Amino acid sequence: MSSNSKAREQWGSQVGFILAAAGSAIGLGNIWRFPYLVGMNGGAAFVIIYIAIAVTVGLTVMLTEFCLGRASQKGSVGAFKRLAPNKFWRVFGWLGLLAGGFIILSYYGVIAGWTVKYMFGSFTGLMGQAAGGGSGDYLNAFLADSKSVIAYQVGVMAVTVIIVACGVGKGIEQSCKYMMPGLFIVLLILIARSVTLPGAEAGLEFYLKPDFSKLSGKTLIDALGQGFFSLSLGMGIMITYGSYLSKSENLPKCALLVFILDTLAATLAGLAIFPALFAMGMEPAQGVGLTFVTLPGVFAQMPAGAFFSFLFFLLLFLASLTSMMSLLEVSVTFLMDEFKMGRVKAALSSGSVITILGIPSAYSLSGNLKVFGMSFFDFMDYISNNIMMPINAIGICLFAGWIWTEKLREEITNNGLIRFAVQPVWITSVKIFAPAAIAVILASGAN
Ligand code: PHE
Repeated sequence: MSSNSKAREQWGSQVGFILAAAGSAIGLGNIWRFPYLVGMNGGAAFVIIYIAIAVTVGLTVMLTEFCLGRASQKGSVGAFKRLAPNKFWRVFGWLGLLAGGFIILSYYGVIAGWTVKYMFGSFTGLMGQAAGGGSGDYLNAFLADSKSVIAYQVGVMAVTVIIVACGVGKGIEQSCKYMMPGLFIVLLILIARSVTLPGAEAGLEFYLKPDFSKLSGKTLIDALGQGFFSLSLGMGIMITYGSYLSKSENLPKCALLVFILDTLAATLAGLAIFPALFAMGMEPAQGVGLTFVTLPGVFAQMPAGAFFSFLFFLLLFLASLTSMMSLLEVSVTFLMDEFKMGRVKAALSSGSVITILGIPSAYSLSGNLKVFGMSFFDFMDYISNNIMMPINAIGICLFAGWIWTEKLREEITNNGLIRFAVQPVWITSVKIFAPAAIAVILASGAN
């Protein structure tokens, strides 16, 4: 026992791991971004294309990340150190750590803080103001008050640090086991409310009717970009989570289930949002505007609106919290693996650094602090998602596909113990198709 006391932690069960990885994947991207993209890109036609691309490219990369993590038993940086013969490849490990572990979490924590503000606000003023068409003013007044934005950000970061400090099994896995079913229950309650409002059919039609005339080259790029962000790829996360998996786990099965849960949450979110939106005679707006301005206006007109508004922002909070844990785990695993730091100390120190890094993002929302003409917040989002994430994912595929090929085959089949029927197709995708597709996102996002 004593020699094992320092053994690497592991997920307690397959279900626990799948829920934790799905918790990472299901986040703000599913709840506001996916429904919006579907609405604007020809309804069900987009869903079909999204699934096709996410299964081919997204699952290819997710499986590769799981393999690298489990084979090396290390996080983003350590995996390349251990597996790559040439130091060059380590660049990609560092990119993942920087993008996922630091940059994304720094600003993601800021938005997660808004969800808490809105949860409480549902009962204290938001509804009154939104009923009079003032939800935009409510948001602007909040954002102008940087101290309060930062206070909420610090609060959610603290919760994340506490959970991650409790460990992979006892902290992340246990909390996801409650939060993920909770999230789906809240979604179902919201859908039941939304589709039974008078006039909801128009929203269902807008959301679900396939309109192939709206498809274009841009649709493919939107679907690819959304697939990567939504499945939490190219940020060191799935390598890190994979490093806590046991050697007997069936990786393709796990990846498929994570993908199914993620896509289910995204499609259900649209069913909760659009029928209510149309029933109340509102226009579907984009992104932050839809979530934090239009929807409070919708809730304000509904019977028991404050309650449903609270539930909706609770849903967003749960979704972002489980994503934040995975982001923090990237840097915590790094500190534990590379510096032999204890988990609590690692969670506290990287959590503090990331919180401080998020303060300029929070502050920039009041309209000040611009970098290259963008708010600091948008700048962080841009470099991480449009530049670092695709480069990292391309590096992962090229390394695993061309350099580490034989080991990749062994890892995916648990050394020949399980059958992976589409293995040859998958390997070709890792080598050629996925990196080429991601290069397209990179090229389109960088201009
Ligand atoms: N996948 C999450 C979402 O859909 C976002 C995320 C991206 C989380 C990157 C972690 C890392 O919102």
